[in-house]
Amino acid sequence: MTAAAPKRQRILSGMRPTGRLHLGNYLGALQNWVAMQKTCESFHMVADWHVLTTDYEHTAEIEPNTLEMVTDWIAAGIDPERSPCFVQSRVKEHAELHLLFSMLVTVSRLERNPTVKEQVRDLDLEGTVTYGHLGYPVLQAADILLYKGTWVPVGEDQVPHVEMTREIARRFNTLYGEVFPVPEPKLTHFPRVPGLDGKRMSKSMGNTILLADSREEIEAKVRTAYTDPKKIRKDDPGNPDGCVVFAYHRAFHPEGAEAVATDCRAGRLGCVADKRALAEIVAKALEPIRERRRELEAHPERVREALRYGEEKARAVAQDTMKQVREAMKIG
Ligand code: TRP
Repeated sequence: MTAAAPKRQRILSGMRPTGRLHLGNYLGALQNWVAMQKTCESFHMVADWHVLTTDYEHTAEIEPNTLEMVTDWIAAGIDPERSPCFVQSRVKEHAELHLLFSMLVTVSRLERNPTVKEQVRDLDLEGTVTYGHLGYPVLQAADILLYKGTWVPVGEDQVPHVEMTREIARRFNTLYGEVFPVPEPKLTHFPRVPGLDGKRMSKSMGNTILLADSREEIEAKVRTAYTDPKKIRKDDPGNPDGCVVFAYHRAFHPEGAEAVATDCRAGRLGCVADKRALAEIVAKALEPIRERRRELEAHPERVREALRYGEEKARAVAQDTMKQVREAMKIG
C-alpha cells in the first residue's frame, strides 16, 4: 500500500495592492511566501477592499496596482497553480462573513486596536475614521477564517489583527458551534531592511529599491544610500552600524558581510567601492526575478489568467465554509 501524500496545511496570506514591490516587501514577506509553498497550500490574496479603509478616494489605481503586484509575486517565484492568487473583492463570501463577524465585536474593542490608533496619528485622521476603517481587522478575520488556516504568516505589526481573529473565532464557535479553528500568528522573522535614507523603506518616502528596477537603476540608487557620515575619505575608518549599504550586505550575502564590516572599520574599504560592489550583488540577486518579470510583462494575460484560476480555487473553499456558517447560524 502506498502512503497517502501528506496533506498540505492550508493557509491564507494577504497584501494590500501597492503596485510594484520593493525590497522591504520581498525580504519581509514575499521570500517567505515562496518558501512556504513547498509545505503549505497557500492562498495569496490581494486585499483590495482593505485599501478602501484609508484610500477610498483613489479607486482607479487599485486594478493597475493589483496587476503590478501579482506580476511581482509570480516573478519572485510564487507558482499560481500550486498557490492560488486571487483578488479579495472577487470572492464575495469575504463580505458576507465580514458582516456576520461585525456583530460579534464591540466598538470599544476595535477602538483599542493599536494599528488604527497609529494610523489616526500618522495620517491625521482624528475624528474622521470611518466605520469600515474601524472594521479593518474584522474583514481580515473573515479573510483568514474563510480558509480555516490554523496559522497565519505575518509580520509583527499584524499580530493584533490575528489576536482579534482568534477572539472572533472563539466567540463564533461558542455561540453557534465549532466551525473555525483558532489560528496562531506565525511571526516571519526577517532582516529589517532600511530604505536608502536609513528610514523605513516605503514607497511614499521615495527611498525604495524595486524588484523591477534595472541594473542601472539599482546602481544609481545604491550610490545615494546613507552611509556613516563621519567616513569622508575612502581610507577613513568607518562604522557599519547604521550604514544602509552594510544592512543590505547582511540581507543579501550574510556570509560575506563580516569581511565587509572588518574592512570598513579598518579603513581598507571606501564607500564608493563598497557601493559599487553591493549594487552588483543586489542586481545579480534580482536578475532572475527581473527576467521573469520581463516575460510576464510581455504576456499580461498570464497574470490575469492566474488570478481567474486562483479566484475559482478560493471561491470553492470560501463557499464551502460559508455553507457551514449559514447552517451553524441558521440564517441565510
Ligand atoms: N492587513 C494586512 C497588511 O496590511 C493585509 C491582509 C489583509 C492580510 N487580509 C489579510 C494579511 C489576511 C494576512 C491575512 O499587510
